Amino acid sequence: MSKSTAKMHINQQEFEFPIYEGTYGAPVIDVTSIGKQGFYTFDPGFLGTAACESKITFIDGAKGILLYRGYPIEQLAEQTDFMDVAHCLFFGDLPTTSEKATFINEINTLMPVKDELHSVLDGFQTTGHPIAMQISLLGAEASYYHEAIDINKSDDRVRAAKMLIAKIPTITAMCFQHSQGHKPIQPESGLSYAENFMHMMFSKDGKDVELNQTLVKAIDRIFTLHADHEQNASTSTVRLAGSTGTDPFAAVAAGIAALWGPAHGGANESCLNMLREIASVDKIPEYIARAKDKADPFRLMGFGHRVYKNYDPRATIMRKTCHEVLNEKGCHDDSLFKVAMELERIALEDEYFVEKKLYPNVDFYSGITLNALGIPSNLFTSMFVLARTTGWISHWHEMLSRDDFRISRPRQMYSGAATRDVLPITER
Ligand code: CMC
Repeated sequence: MSKSTAKMHINQQEFEFPIYEGTYGAPVIDVTSIGKQGFYTFDPGFLGTAACESKITFIDGAKGILLYRGYPIEQLAEQTDFMDVAHCLFFGDLPTTSEKATFINEINTLMPVKDELHSVLDGFQTTGHPIAMQISLLGAEASYYHEAIDINKSDDRVRAAKMLIAKIPTITAMCFQHSQGHKPIQPESGLSYAENFMHMMFSKDGKDVELNQTLVKAIDRIFTLHADHEQNASTSTVRLAGSTGTDPFAAVAAGIAALWGPAHGGANESCLNMLREIASVDKIPEYIARAKDKADPFRLMGFGHRVYKNYDPRATIMRKTCHEVLNEKGCHDDSLFKVAMELERIALEDEYFVEKKLYPNVDFYSGITLNALGIPSNLFTSMFVLARTTGWISHWHEMLSRDDFRISRPRQMYSGAATRDVLPITER
């Protein structure tokens, strides 16, 4: 596998490490043996660390490329639907017609959740954050299926993955209905994944929502765009939690907790709030100045990315989808959209953003789109959870399928107090 090596000189000693090359991306130096030499690599924030080998997703941040299993995100968004994407991410390729029919059938059958979950939800205030509810409901799911899933068996992992992909829209819609003080709506077997989600979200007891296909397509595309993004914070969390051999529902719950933060999945909610606060085009310069001011903690939400140092390809598709949804809803004059377009234009010409390579990311337009779709802003991150569950569980399965799989256990540089004696309390 390794053709070349890297040499490191420490205190007159020479160490040699193999270098591996993947299909694309920077070559990696295998430093696993360095611990035995009495050293650790030090990389807070993982700025220079490839934590694993993966065949699922590739991002070229400089060129603005995103591939799922080798397929460009633009082609997937235009030519496939979320069931194709989920199958592709988890099983390694797009499904054939019969594989897709079987997969859809299995997912539809697994969509309903246990009745007991409703009483778990009843324990939450209607004003509680939906992410807190999702985390708890997945914990509850773990309690029902834990004994029946042997994570060391591939077939069991596949079954768990299908359960998670199937039940997460039901759970998400239940959280929304609960926050509105309404009863949950059951999934229907004849509907597509995105249709079922909209049905469970917006139907009321005894009155089914009318399913507008432009809006259904937009939801489906949002799921596709958010389905995976290689080793981001939440996926790495799922891998880390999963590496202990924990329950898959619990590992995904850990991923949800990581996604909640405003620097990650919470950015779409924060971005919409920011656009509402800016409110008019003439106030943009003031916010741009604040984003550039080091003394001000304010950042332009929906801008910048750890990996993309170019336009996020998902943002381009999201902007188009945003146009389609606003047109369909008859709000092409939407003031937030106007603020967003102008903010993007000004920021892309501003020296600070140009020099730091800060471009709009997927969250810049997703908030406005979700808002126009009737989804409240406190549910945005939960929508991200719904879509990303497929990616998380694909990574979990990939990790556990490896022969060399082991628990993830980083080390540290200890810089605390040297050994000292405990003093009696009167002398401290
Ligand atoms: N507004 C203003 N300045 C920024 C921004 C921003 N949105 N993002 C980065 N910078 C500056 C930052 O202050 C730093 O400046 P300096 O070098 O002078 O100290 C420089 O750009 C590099 O930023 P960083 O924080 O070191 O970069 P990072 O890779 O650690 O952080 C990020 C990436 C996404 C957390 C950050 O860009 C950010 O906070 N963006 C806003 C939140 C956001 O939109 N998050 C969604 C990410 S996309 C969804 C996902 O995949 O999860």
